[in-house]
Amino acid sequence: KGPAVDTLKPLHQELERAVALYRQALRDNAEARNYLQTRGVLAAAIERFELGFAPAAAQFLTRNLGKSGEDRRLLAAAGLVSTRDDGTVYDRFRERVIFPIRDGRGRLVGLGGRSMDGREPKYLNSPETPIYHKSRVLYGLHQAREGIRRTGKALLVEGYLDVITLHQAGIDNAVAASGTALGNEQLELIFRAAPEIVLCFDGDSAGEQAAWRAVNLAPEHLRQGRLLRVLFLPQGEDPDSLVRGQGSAAFHALLATARPALDVYLEGLQKRHNIVVEDEKAVFLHHARALLQRLADPILKELYEQRVATLCGLRMARHPSPPLHQEP
Ligand code: GTP
Ligand code: MN
Ligand code: MN
Ligand code: MN
Ligand code: MN
Repeated sequence: KGPAVDTLKPLHQELERAVALYRQALRDNAEARNYLQTRGVLAAAIERFELGFAPAAAQFLTRNLGKSGEDRRLLAAAGLVSTRDDGTVYDRFRERVIFPIRDGRGRLVGLGGRSMDGREPKYLNSPETPIYHKSRVLYGLHQAREGIRRTGKALLVEGYLDVITLHQAGIDNAVAASGTALGNEQLELIFRAAPEIVLCFDGDSAGEQAAWRAVNLAPEHLRQGRLLRVLFLPQGEDPDSLVRGQGSAAFHALLATARPALDVYLEGLQKRHNIVVEDEKAVFLHHARALLQRLADPILKELYEQRVATLCGLRMARHPSPPLHQEP
């Protein structure tokens, strides 16, 4: 990977320069500081997560970092500016709170930006660039490394502010799959950091859909010793609102109610197919077995096959047991 690193390093460095400017802009902007204050983000978290502010000016970065043609090419390659049809260059992030995104090795790869006045889109992320591949990045992994190592667990949530509020409340093993639905690469990335993962989605319809998508990915990841749990939050809550409203003890209590991903899958399937009726039961069985078929761990597979058989009132098709001792 030698030469590739050299061509990518300038992009990481360009993002570092932009983030330094955005952080200074936050210190200089009372409205942005006030927004974070209303969101309950304290000074220590602003430092730890390197939060910034992108001013409204469309040429803020170009003015500060785009002196030469080469500088401006770098800004574009890092996903920080775009070019209109008429050739004018403008900053991608304007009037937004900036959430710098570092990869697992601590390199700056992209940014998230939140509007403060309800303007859509609420969140804007860096585009895919040679250094930013959203499906391979977990927001907060850099800051959560130590907490994940210490606890042997990782908590996966939906949003930037969920991560920040949890860390601020001492729950420092939280990361987020920001700007994208949780994918296999992200699950593998987080399982490499900890054998036990709790997926915590918002108590809304988007969160429910995200949970369903996630449990459908589970089988290939459930190698021996790994636990994948799903926590459903009360309707209308996300980790940020829950911790801010009810405290970290309430969140810890909820964490204890997280359920195994495969249980969540089977229950979701039962909601979709009424197994009291034989023809729907057949569809249920088809889907359930297709998922269990993907399990590599024979013990887990047998346990859940038994569960499904019982649910459907079937006698387990037993694999013939090997004889205890061979007759000569
Ligand atoms: P807050 O409203 O600031 O508390 O954000 P949230 O994280 O609670 O947002 P929400 O639950 O609505 O959405 C969950 C996640 O989906 C966000 O953290 C974003 O990563 C993403 N998301 C939400 N809205 C948008 C959007 O308009 N555009 C994009 N690209 N992503 C979004
Ligand atoms: Mn690539
Ligand atoms: Mn939501
Ligand atoms: Mn949310
Ligand atoms: Mn929220």
